[in-house]
Amino acid sequence: MIFKQYYLACLSHASYLIGDEQSGRAVVVDPQRDVSGYVTDAEAMGVHIERVIETHFHADFLSGHLELAHETGAVISYGDSATPKFPIEPLADGQRLSLGDVVLEIRHTPGHTPESISIVVYEHADDATPYGVLTGDTLFIGDVGRPDLLSSIGVTADELARQLYHSLHTKLLTLPDETKVFPAHGAGSACGKALANETESTIGVQRRTNYALAPMTEDEFVEAVTQGQSVAPLYFAFSAAKNKEWRSLLDEAQPPPALSLERVLQEQARGAVVIDSRDPAEFRAGHLARSINIGLTGRFAEYAGEVIPADQRIVLVALPGSAVEAKLRLARIGFDNVIGSLDDPLRVFHEHPEIVQQSSRLTGDAFVERVRALPDLQIVDVRNPNETESGIVTSAVLVPLPRLGADAEVLDPTRPMPCPEPEHDVRNVQHAGLAGAAAGAVVLVHPPALAGGGDRAGRFADRLALAGLVRAR
Ligand SMILES: [Fe+2]
Repeated sequence: MIFKQYYLACLSHASYLIGDEQSGRAVVVDPQRDVSGYVTDAEAMGVHIERVIETHFHADFLSGHLELAHETGAVISYGDSATPKFPIEPLADGQRLSLGDVVLEIRHTPGHTPESISIVVYEHADDATPYGVLTGDTLFIGDVGRPDLLSSIGVTADELARQLYHSLHTKLLTLPDETKVFPAHGAGSACGKALANETESTIGVQRRTNYALAPMTEDEFVEAVTQGQSVAPLYFAFSAAKNKEWRSLLDEAQPPPALSLERVLQEQARGAVVIDSRDPAEFRAGHLARSINIGLTGRFAEYAGEVIPADQRIVLVALPGSAVEAKLRLARIGFDNVIGSLDDPLRVFHEHPEIVQQSSRLTGDAFVERVRALPDLQIVDVRNPNETESGIVTSAVLVPLPRLGADAEVLDPTRPMPCPEPEHDVRNVQHAGLAGAAAGAVVLVHPPALAGGGDRAGRFADRLALAGLVRAR
């Protein structure tokens, strides 16, 4: 049997290629939008991808089922309660798909979404113990899929959580302890709240260690899995809808057109958003006025999807050679509206200082000084509710980042706002020009976690605590 996991760290997304070496037949499960890796691997392994299976309609990325079907002629399959707007071969609960000796068994496991399925993999058709189970977003390592993402379209989190409880107990925990567990997401995913760093486990280990599988009543389970979830990124509803539709196919190698400064300024004046994908330090030193910094190092697409409306036209400012990567990573969440990228940005900034702005970031000490010196300082904490449990800065306004566009009116554009120096992997989104604020660049505040620790974030938090600037929540 061929079994390969693909793990895309920037979206915490796992997909799978499963094949039968003897028959040369293979399937791909939950593919990412750019599918060349699967196609190249299948060729090298001597198998043909004949089917794409989606465990459910993903909300956190735009899946590559249409691209893969186009490239390979594969049929697309979902569980039989899914009704996308393109032809599929639906899969029923209990159905067995033979690839030769390798057999896949479909289990309908609603809960994260109504149409979710899991796929039990048998290396040999007559094996009593499965090799593993692909659990999609039903069961993660250390967590289960959140049931609250569909509340906006009429299915309540409570109903789905109850379905999830039954799916876990009657469809997955009935598998032998040795069965390996292969989820669709790992740590960092907004599809759950406590995902572990591991990308595989076993049913037995999850039975013993996963908080959501501990002995509890259905009501207790509903309570446990609906509490403490982060605010879903803005783009989730868009990507979920787009995954159900016919849409244009991605050409992953095509770089965005190079644009002159004049054209970029024209597009910006017409409402396009300019994303600067360089590192925060480079952005800080000089950037196009009213551009947004979302560094490519990190969860670039997800952060873009948290602050930029899905239908917004986008212009990129990127280092030479990285514009194509920025475009591809936006395409992975379905943001295909990249008009182009500023040609040779460093030369442009050098030659046109009149369009360049700088922004500052503050260390913990500088932040404390600023708070004391400016009594009307406006502090905006954009972390998610589960990140602010250990305390927030006194007088801070709490607006989770995905809500910032909608809730911008709670901010006073006439009052100054600071931006502390964030920890390395703390969300490094900076937003210039928010709400038309005065005094040039306005920068979103991404305070690092206020819990202590020896790292830079911890020192920042300690400094605030020492200065009496932290209040409990
Ligand atoms: Fe999902």
